[in-house]
Order: sequence, then structure tokens, then C-alpha cells
Amino acid sequence: MSELDTDADFIRRVTSCLEGWLTDDDVAVTADLLRAQEAWEVDASLVEIGVYGGKYLSLLLASAARTRSRVLGIDTFQFKDPAAVSADLERLAAELMPWLSLHQGSSRELTPESFLALLGRPARFISVDGSHEHTDVLHDLRLADAALAPGGLVAVDDFLNPLAIGVNRAVNAFLETGPSLAGVACGPNKLFLARPSQAERYRQHLEGHLLASPTARGELFRSRLATWRGLVEQDFFGSPLLLYASG
Ligand SMILES: C[S@@+](CC[C@H](N)C(=O)[O-])C[C@H]1O[C@@H](n2cnc3c(N)ncnc32)[C@H](O)[C@@H]1O
Repeated sequence: MSELDTDADFIRRVTSCLEGWLTDDDVAVTADLLRAQEAWEVDASLVEIGVYGGKYLSLLLASAARTRSRVLGIDTFQFKDPAAVSADLERLAAELMPWLSLHQGSSRELTPESFLALLGRPARFISVDGSHEHTDVLHDLRLADAALAPGGLVAVDDFLNPLAIGVNRAVNAFLETGPSLAGVACGPNKLFLARPSQAERYRQHLEGHLLASPTARGELFRSRLATWRGLVEQDFFGSPLLLYASG
């Protein structure tokens, strides 16, 4: 990506041109959280389980290029050929390709040890967006827990999607079992988790971003906060969860 690309430019030029699913709220918040990681020098790899057409992965790649980190994309590629995904990314952002590796296979074949071996080092950002069956999502969350760097983030897709009930069941089951990860924020289609000792730092950063944002999302956040803090922050398994959905 060009050094001069803002996040909005990159999203317009690359992310929005790729096939996949991503809401305006989630793309903006993810881009902001990745920038925070870069500023805090959380130096580690990035990974997505469930690449599809590379839409969300493109955000991880842009961040990786800025910190000279590696991105691993894992997918069965049952819907899209990995060569086609690479070709689309290459056409839109050839300069990002040196940071990307794609792994074809089911995440169910991975153990925490083999996942870490594929990554080479613990990850600073792990997107869980593969199978939506509850046992598979639970498995992927356990992989994420095993491979997350101390200052990293896990983004779980479809937590509140009424067409992906298994994700909700898996997240709740995972968080019931122990506090190795805590809630940071939740939007229309992404739930962000971090190590309990790091979650508050991310929450404070994101709240600052939303308070200053000139977008409709920022305006709504401020207006809800002025009404009652309970509209923007609620308890989630014993930790506060920041709520940023503008829909
Ligand atoms: C909802 S799509 C991912 C969307 C993508 N993250 C985006 O940005 O639009 C889910 C993807 O997970 C893949 N998938 C399903 N089960 C999987 C598994 N067990 N392991 C790895 N990938 C899987 C599918 O092939 C599909 O490409």
C-alpha cells in the first residue's frame, strides 16, 4: 500500500473491491484497532481462519505491511480457489503480497502446537471466521487462545448473526470456561477479545476514537453515552464490553 494511503483510501481502493462480508462499522473499528497495535508496537504475526475472498484479510495485510509482519490465511477454499483469491489481492495491492501466506486445509486438522508452528510466532491479531458450527468455532477459539500474543486481539465474526447461531453458542461456552480472554468491544458483526490485562487499554483507545470520530457512528456513540453509559458499555462475562454498532 502507498505510504500516503489513509485507512479510508485503502478500504475504498482494496477492501471494498474484494468479495466477502464486512459492515462499515466493523471495517472502521478494525482499521483503528490495527493502527493502535502498530503504535503500541505489538510486534507479531496476524492470521485469519476463514479467508473466503480476502475482504477482511486485506485489512490485516495492510497493517502487516506497515509493521513488516507476516499474515497467514487459513481456509478450506471450498468456495473460492486460493489462486483466484491471491490474483484478486495481487491486482488490487501487489505490494502487500510479500507478507501473505495462504494455507489450504480445515482448521479442525490443526492442534495448538501445529497452529503455532504454521504461524512461526504468537499472533497479534487473530480473525476467527471459518466454520460457523459451534464445535468448530469452539475449536478455533481454543487455537486462538493458544496462539495469541500477550498484547493481541481476537476478532470473532458473526457473534450476533441470527443466521450463525453456532458462533454465539461457542463464544458463550468458551467464555464460561475461564477468563483467558476478556471482551473488548462488540459491533454489528465482530466481537473483539483480548487478554484480561490488555482489554481495558483497547477499550479506552476505542472509546477515544469513537468520541472523536466525525462519522455518524461517532455521533451516535456520543449521543448514547450522553443519555446513559449502559447504552455503550455492558457487562460481558465479568468485563465491560464497548458497544459500537450504529445500526
Ligand atoms: C464467512 S466466510 C469468511 C469471510 C471472510 N472472512 C471475509 O472477509 O469476507 C467463511 C470461510 O470459512 C471457510 N471455512 C469453513 N470451514 C472451515 C474450516 N473448518 N477451516 C478453515 N476454513 C473454513 C469457508 O471456506 C469460507 O471461505
